[in-house]
Amino acid sequence: MDKIKACIFDLDGVIVDTAKYHYKAWKEIAQKLKFEFTEKDNERLKGVSRMESLDILLSIGNINLTQQEKEEIAEQKNNRYKEFVYNMKPDEILPGAKEFIELIRSVGILTALGSASKNAEIILEKLNLIPLFDAIIDGNHVTKTKPNPEVFLKAAEELKVSPANCVVFEDAEAGVEAAKAAGMKCVGIGSKDILKDADLIINGLDKMDMNILCTL
Ligand code: BG6
Ligand code: MG
Repeated sequence: MDKIKACIFDLDGVIVDTAKYHYKAWKEIAQKLKFEFTEKDNERLKGVSRMESLDILLSIGNINLTQQEKEEIAEQKNNRYKEFVYNMKPDEILPGAKEFIELIRSVGILTALGSASKNAEIILEKLNLIPLFDAIIDGNHVTKTKPNPEVFLKAAEELKVSPANCVVFEDAEAGVEAAKAAGMKCVGIGSKDILKDADLIINGLDKMDMNILCTL
């Protein structure tokens, strides 16, 4: 590829495993509404915005709610999720994530966060990771959610780097699609079945190094 000048990281599932907290919080909502919500169902919510996640959850339960009811439930879910987030500690950073980000910064590659979450900054603060990012673009900065490329294009714009010089790290299918639509290279973190459009698929950032990055 063109020279790599920036790496853009998704947060949930790439830097930290918050999916388990999203799952617990959504499951409590499903229990209140009296339907079953499984860990497999939760896969469908990865990379998807809060309100879109709620729509998927309600479709699983076959439940129709008014816009106002939906907003109340989304707020309840988020309040519960934030209780988990407030207790997060730096030891929850996924293996190799901090080390890899430090490594690329040490050779002059710029770094950005590109997340759908509106809680991204508070999570980065809890993990002491704010200083490792030159730009932070999250759910509060975009109008269109993944698979739309807006979040990654905004990150590249803030870093003043052309999309062709950016590599995205993503664990969600919608995120891989967004990266490709942005004209960026994409490293998928997770399963080959789900992330098949990624340029490279690995199990976690502990499997990355400069040599592998340069093969992209
Ligand atoms: C993404 C998660 O990063 O953020 C999704 O993968 C989540 O599961 C989305 O729904 C929105 O998160 P939040 O924190 O704004 O509710
Ligand atoms: Mg993710």
